[in-house]
Amino acid sequence: MSDQDKSSNVVWHHATVTRERREALNQHNGGVFWFTGLSGAGKSTLAHAVEEKLHQQGYRTYVLDGDNVRHGLCADLSFSNDDRKENIRRIGHMAKLYVEAGVIVLTAFISPFRADRENVRKICGNDFHELYCKCSLEVCEDRDVKGLYKRARAGDITDFTGISSPYEEPEAAELQVDTETHLGECADNVFNYIAQAVKR
Ligand code: ADX
Repeated sequence: MSDQDKSSNVVWHHATVTRERREALNQHNGGVFWFTGLSGAGKSTLAHAVEEKLHQQGYRTYVLDGDNVRHGLCADLSFSNDDRKENIRRIGHMAKLYVEAGVIVLTAFISPFRADRENVRKICGNDFHELYCKCSLEVCEDRDVKGLYKRARAGDITDFTGISSPYEEPEAAELQVDTETHLGECADNVFNYIAQAVKR
């Protein structure tokens, strides 16, 4: 479904409590920090570690996580190319709403397709920051925290990213972190990047 479908005759309602006023109250700007990478690359771990640091310092944050969102908002979607596209489109719009609320959104989705990530960049404009969690398939598969790679190799799970469905690496991510060997040290790096990006 495209962004325009089936919603004609709807007029945007402008709030009197504006984004600017919310950001002034928060003393920082909102933004979308889009973690992308293979399953097991450490996106969620890193996003939550960074959120913890931000929260402790008084930043307003929220993590949108693939596994959680797929339990509710996107429970109707599979892992086919079209459904992943729709998954990322919905998250992109949700992230934009969070930014309007003045919040720092950290998203942890595989989001394997470049075009889908670029679509979110279009939706969110300059508020969008792509953060590539770079970790080889070998290491992700070796970690196999959820046992899904094993099942995918056995043919139990179809369209599994890295095995039977592609992952397109970012070509110009705003930040790339090495979650293969330095997962523990990445949080400081990402924290500093975000703190700078949301500075008023
Ligand atoms: S995305 O491709 O649409 O961005 P998303 O991040 O929401 O994926 O969900 C990925 C999570 O779903 C993975 O971390 C993994 O736990 C689980 N999963 C279940 N099936 C698959 C699959 N076929 N491919 C990738 N991840 C899967």
